Amino acid sequence: MAKKPLSKTTTSSKSSPSKIPTLKSPEVAPTQKKPPTSISKKKKPIDNLSILKTSPYLKQSSKSQTSGKHFTLKELFERNLLSQKEEKMEIILSGQYQDALDLMYEADASNLYPILVGPPGIGKTTLCRYYAQLRAEITGNDSFEWITFDESTKPAHLVGSFNPATTIQKGFSFEAFNPGPLIKSMLNGGLFLANEINRATEYTQNSLLEPLEEKTLAIPHIGRIKASPGFFFIGAMNPSELVGTHRLGEALKDRFNVWIELDYPDKKTEMKIIEHNNPYYKINESTLEKIYLIINRTRTHHQIQTPASLRSGIALARLTGVAQKKVKKDPDKILGDIASNVLFGAIQTKPGVKINDVIKNIISQVVGSA
Ligand SMILES: Nc1ncnc2c1ncn2[C@@H]1O[C@H](COP(=O)(O)OP(=O)(O)OP(=O)(O)O)[C@@H](O)[C@H]1O
Ligand SMILES: [Mg+2]
Repeated sequence: MAKKPLSKTTTSSKSSPSKIPTLKSPEVAPTQKKPPTSISKKKKPIDNLSILKTSPYLKQSSKSQTSGKHFTLKELFERNLLSQKEEKMEIILSGQYQDALDLMYEADASNLYPILVGPPGIGKTTLCRYYAQLRAEITGNDSFEWITFDESTKPAHLVGSFNPATTIQKGFSFEAFNPGPLIKSMLNGGLFLANEINRATEYTQNSLLEPLEEKTLAIPHIGRIKASPGFFFIGAMNPSELVGTHRLGEALKDRFNVWIELDYPDKKTEMKIIEHNNPYYKINESTLEKIYLIINRTRTHHQIQTPASLRSGIALARLTGVAQKKVKKDPDKILGDIASNVLFGAIQTKPGVKINDVIKNIISQVVGSA
């Protein structure tokens, strides 16, 4: 069951930043602001100190309460160690995400390797991490390794390397070998996620050819291992014309048999994702929709080269939620005031276009003049 082929639509180039928007504080120039229009009189605004003190994001769980105690590095490490069982992940699975997940199951069951392709912040890594959780529940094998590639990633980061001091004492032996994530995954018959795979150089990409075709991998001085049954490899990448990416070599490309394209989700799904990722300071449906409209306009605006991702919508929702607690002002006005602080770094305009002008234009289209 093949998905539609990739459509390469997103391009990017650096535009010279103009004025950085400053955080607009209502306390700074209250006389220049319009009076509040549609806010309930019962709502009592709270100050910076209280908002920070009561923020659930800053609250520590009872397990990690410090109460003035100083922890050793080891204690801190153990306290913060991720345990799959404790951190159960939930995601939104409507629209394209359920289809993509279905294909991942099917690829896994057919012993084929899928690759997720889509613009930044579309949910590729989230979906893979979620699939790893489901796979662990189904198979009982929770081996999940992942690496995010860049220019400096070398084959040794995948395979592993010998500790020089131990190698001098004991030679090239198992005791001296620190296994890399790919070897661990192959030995465990686990899931390996190669994130941003097209940011790897050709040299590093080539080191994946043998594991993906033969399911074998050579450890220098030790021997060649065969992957245990269950070894599953998922790639994820941004479309290859984005800045900072290499082309995926033809040989490596040919080893991915299931291409899953993710694009910006439909309105309903994106609004659900924004809501899901804004668990504490809730905003109403109308504000949520306006956030979606602002973000979506960046994707259709003719002067924008790189539009805003899901992350920007989530950031806008969280910031708006907190600001609504603090400021006694029309929710639209609050959103309009802070949207530029999120969008400024999230979008790139075409050469010669002033970013602040575009942002102002989008905000005024959705919530009126900011
Ligand atoms: N299906 C989803 N359900 C809930 N949240 C999601 C979903 N998809 C994406 N998100 C949220 O969107 C944000 C971006 O997702 P993610 O990091 O997975 O994107 P990505 O495609 O891997 O981006 P990049 O290309 O930059 O690595 C995260 O905060 C994530 O929680
Ligand atoms: Mg990612």
